[in-house]
Amino acid sequence: MTQTVAAAMAALEAHRVEISQHRIADFFAADPDRFARHHITLDDLLFDYSKHRITDATLAHLLSLARAAGVEEHRERLFAGDLVNNTENRPALHMALRSFSGEAMQLDGEDACAQARAERARVFAFAEELRQGVICGATGRAFTDVVNIGIGGSDLGPAMAARALSPFGKPGLRMHFVANVDGADLADTMTDLDPARTLFIICSKTFTTQETMANARAARAMVVAALGEGAVADHFAAVSTRNDLVAAFGVRPERTFCMWDWVGGRYSIWSSIGLSLAIFIGPEHFEDFLRGGHDVDRHFQDAPLQDNIPALMALLGVWYRNIWGCQSHAVIPYDQRLARFPAYLQQLDMESNGKSVTRTGEKAMFETAPVIWGEPGSNGQHAFFQMLHQGTDVIPVDFLVAAKPTSAAAGQHDLLVANCLAQSEALMRGRSLAQAREALLAQGLDARAAAALAPHKTFPGDRPSSTFLYRALTPRQLGRLIALYEHKVFVQSVVWNINPFDQWGVELGKELCNRLAPMVSQRTAPLDELDGSTAGLIGWRRSLQG
Ligand code: F6P
Repeated sequence: MTQTVAAAMAALEAHRVEISQHRIADFFAADPDRFARHHITLDDLLFDYSKHRITDATLAHLLSLARAAGVEEHRERLFAGDLVNNTENRPALHMALRSFSGEAMQLDGEDACAQARAERARVFAFAEELRQGVICGATGRAFTDVVNIGIGGSDLGPAMAARALSPFGKPGLRMHFVANVDGADLADTMTDLDPARTLFIICSKTFTTQETMANARAARAMVVAALGEGAVADHFAAVSTRNDLVAAFGVRPERTFCMWDWVGGRYSIWSSIGLSLAIFIGPEHFEDFLRGGHDVDRHFQDAPLQDNIPALMALLGVWYRNIWGCQSHAVIPYDQRLARFPAYLQQLDMESNGKSVTRTGEKAMFETAPVIWGEPGSNGQHAFFQMLHQGTDVIPVDFLVAAKPTSAAAGQHDLLVANCLAQSEALMRGRSLAQAREALLAQGLDARAAAALAPHKTFPGDRPSSTFLYRALTPRQLGRLIALYEHKVFVQSVVWNINPFDQWGVELGKELCNRLAPMVSQRTAPLDELDGSTAGLIGWRRSLQG
């Protein structure tokens, strides 16, 4: 297997040399059907991958690579509930949380889909009663604010989705997300909130995460100070795999929602971790969101690789990462409400595939996850797009845009779409030195001035991008987008032969923090065992504290 994958990579490398004389624009000029042949639709979502440095031969090579790596077999294992997370001896069954097929996903003699459905019914009942004011605070008044306390996957998903789906939120019900161990996060959030009208949801799969527990304790102290110890049970709910720790914190069993170790943190938005989102948008919309994820599961399972959106997203990513040496990948939603989507994808992609060893512990044969980053367009155009267009690095881009806005501010939407399309066109076309010079001459510059300025106004072009265009950013569409990226990440992990479902790389920093914490807080603690820099910084901080 390893040799076949290496051979397929080598073939791709040779192919790159062959086609590197050609530009994407040439491919369009030579083939009027290029767009028609290089886009895929999934209901109203269109994935355009025509603006890439690819030919039919490139796609054939990429598909050979996928087959050599065993993408189809690994996909089967994933959906069959095999222990694909081999370092933690677990399956990764987040698809069970959004399955509407009626088929079981068996796990240790239990159907994961049935377990998920039962817990979802509890989440929905709680969400509905809170929305209707049946569940209320200790003073008998309905909740107006919900504060989700969690970090990583227990924060990014609900926070990103609540913002994305704000037009579907219940008016008068506000969602807040507190993650950072920096006390400013909770303090700033609480500035305008009335504890008597606030529900806190502690989201932590492990219920031991330092940041989350610090914020949860601080929130608890605020509730006790404002409403008394007896109010804690009325003002807290929790989502975790550790019911024992949740109970010890003082959360009632009927407000404790479970998840399972077969749901990874960064794949947990579909689980009870989505409680705040379910409260905000309501059970019906939340179910639509899940259905969007399920649409993509079926597509990913059923579509042949050449017509499979996540598979192609992944293979194009491999093409640029491993063959063209691109180190980063930008995701630019032309949708202000998707502002947190790039941050969400950072965890999904970089925590999953930011690895250097294979599933069996050998050094990885290929470069793995690129840096994922982005900001909404059109804002980014006035900030970092300069580098995308004229920088020395080629950075592939994913553009995301809706055909229609989801709220009343429809007037500017045409302009938003035009900006999005103009950027992908400009990245691809570029502007040659001769064109730049001609344009300057046409503006009235003399030949010398035009020649001097033209290099600065030249754009190399030939910069690749994909575009996702869909009707509107509905719950179902958001579910689809997230699941597309989840499966993309999975396919890349298969090609790179790494386990995308563990995250050992976050451990060392946590351990060292536990060791350093007493030295930081106790100002006389000896620092002799530390390296010079760390000791010096703690010393300087002590002197600044006075
Ligand atoms: O430290 C990384 C991590 O384990 C993430 O994978 C996870 O999403 C986050 O911390 C939060 O973990 P928990 O839900 O257990 O608090």
